[in-house]
Amino acid sequence: MKSIKSLKNLKGKIVLVRASLNVPIKNGKVEDDFRIKKVLPTIKFLKEKGARVVLLSHLSKGGETLSPVSKTLNKFLKVKFVPEVIGPRVSKTVSTMKNGDVVLLENLRLNSGEKKCSLFFAKKLAELGDIFVNEDFPVSHRMDASLVLLPKLLPAYAGLQMENEIKNLSFVFKNQKHPFLFIIGGAKFSTKMPLIKKYIKLADYIFVGGALANDFLKARGYEVGKSLVDKENYNIADILKSRKLVLPSDVVVEYGKAGHGKKLLNKKSNDVQRDEIIIDIGRESIGQLAALVKQSKFILWNGPLGKYETSGGDATKKILKRVANGKAKSIIGGGDTADLISDMGIEKKFTFVSTGGGAT
Ligand code: 3PG
Repeated sequence: MKSIKSLKNLKGKIVLVRASLNVPIKNGKVEDDFRIKKVLPTIKFLKEKGARVVLLSHLSKGGETLSPVSKTLNKFLKVKFVPEVIGPRVSKTVSTMKNGDVVLLENLRLNSGEKKCSLFFAKKLAELGDIFVNEDFPVSHRMDASLVLLPKLLPAYAGLQMENEIKNLSFVFKNQKHPFLFIIGGAKFSTKMPLIKKYIKLADYIFVGGALANDFLKARGYEVGKSLVDKENYNIADILKSRKLVLPSDVVVEYGKAGHGKKLLNKKSNDVQRDEIIIDIGRESIGQLAALVKQSKFILWNGPLGKYETSGGDATKKILKRVANGKAKSIIGGGDTADLISDMGIEKKFTFVSTGGGAT
């Protein structure tokens, strides 16, 4: 992996930066700028060396256009937004850029070539620039054109945050301290499953929360009501047998008819009814997890423990505080968890907060 720090003579060079600008957007507004702030050092580094910076990114939820992201970026530095991915308008804007200018192109995924990993599309992007920089760790597990093909078509380098991510996450493999607690939550079962399989070998305990826990409770034969579960059935029988696996013994469920106000109830995990939705881990589970946090020397955490965007953020916040104030080395990741940490203003209390979710 070559670092951008090794790049010489950047003056006038057009640098295509795959930037991690996939942030939550609601009603046309960026809800959290944690990832945006992490991209700034690389943009500033390239600008100061006289490069012309073209930012490439995608959005996976909350909207199609990166226009709101450009507005937030403009609070930090001057960025021109081009509402197209490729084409004459893009080529013209890029060819008239001056040294130090920054341009953001439209959401790459609006062109089907990005997800299809099309060589034609990648060549069109590559024609725009001289150098490629990957500063998008969170999406680096995807086989998309900008990520897989651009590094083959242009001299390719890693951005400063990408380097930071690799350095800090490598620590997990090289210097594991025990007891090692792995906490996993969130919803993307298919991307999180490989993490569970990997860390069941390395960690001493794996605590599963979030929507992922619903799949495990269901596989154990428990009723999970109307809770979010994955459509596919994964073979998790071996994992279920592991003594390292800790599932929530109680949960918070939401029930009641819309219009009469939804109600919340703390109950045992095996007592969920068919019309209820699990939204968080329960009080007893919080206590159980807090005890594991206290006795651990290393904590790796990926994804929230509950449906934090509605009323299920309590457990995640409580446990984040415990980890932040505890003595264990801690690496926390997951787009949503990182956003929560940045809202709580406690990032500095962890050993490292990763911008990645599934990519971790
Ligand atoms: C992210 O954290 O940005 C995602 O894992 C990558 O985006 P995707 O899930 O939409 O591919």
